[in-house]
Amino acid sequence: MINMPTDLVLKSVTKKYSVDGNELVALENVSFSVKKRESVGLVGPSGCGKTTLIRNICGLEAPTSGSVLFLGKPITEPNRKIMMIFQSFAILPWKTVQENVELALLDKPKKERAKIARNFIELVGLDGFEASYPRELSGGMKQRVGIARGISTEPDVLLLDEPFSALDALTANNLRNEVLRFYLSKKHKPDILILVTHSIEEAVYMCNRVIVLSKRPGHIVEDIKIDLPFPRNRRDPRFYEYVDRITTLIT
Ligand SMILES: Nc1ncnc2c1ncn2[C@@H]1O[C@H](COP(=O)(O)OP(=O)(O)O)[C@@H](O)[C@H]1O
Ligand SMILES: [Mg+2]
Repeated sequence: MINMPTDLVLKSVTKKYSVDGNELVALENVSFSVKKRESVGLVGPSGCGKTTLIRNICGLEAPTSGSVLFLGKPITEPNRKIMMIFQSFAILPWKTVQENVELALLDKPKKERAKIARNFIELVGLDGFEASYPRELSGGMKQRVGIARGISTEPDVLLLDEPFSALDALTANNLRNEVLRFYLSKKHKPDILILVTHSIEEAVYMCNRVIVLSKRPGHIVEDIKIDLPFPRNRRDPRFYEYVDRITTLIT
């Protein structure tokens, strides 16, 4: 029997920057692994290295020491198996909705690219807006474009960096449920969700596990399993026990 490697493994990830000749340690010895069908929340004080951590996971940056392995192989550059969705949407204002989603699919033949993009635009509820430009869209709709682009490559791992924090409460909640729908559905990727958020409630709402990071240099303070079924009920007293416990760890 072949021993399958755990899907995503971080081994002693340390990241240092040089700022004006001084060493700034952003992350220190961060190790954890994530299996298929897990959603992991990353919470911690502002500046503790959350964004740095997920940039290292998707290969936008390399750790100073330590490593990130996916299915046993080191991640050394951005790739379609691990996609990231940004707080600022990161969509190009001079391109249409359709063109923005197609950007993730440039390695596909043009015809196929257009078809896949249309399909995912529909899945996030933007059909009819294919030819619209970002300036014609609300914040929530822009983030739907970001989500469509993020999932259109059917990534195994989806990384989200405070994706809902620029949105009003109602829109944010709709999109949380939408992302959960993709994650929970067996029909669609991703199989792994990693969510950076400053909302502890959001982490408890969406994740099976919440990893709490310390202030800089970020290291793991606690890794908490959230033992509640989906869809989560915010009024469940156990929901609030988790929120309280994590809040106490951070403050
Ligand atoms: N490219 C960079 N060069 C220098 N310092 C950086 C760079 N990226 C991040 N940092 C620093 O690393 C620390 C962690 O940043 P970040 O990962 O953005 O934190 P968080 O997302 O948790 O708010 C901060 O002190 C930040 O200023
Ligand atoms: Mg950040």
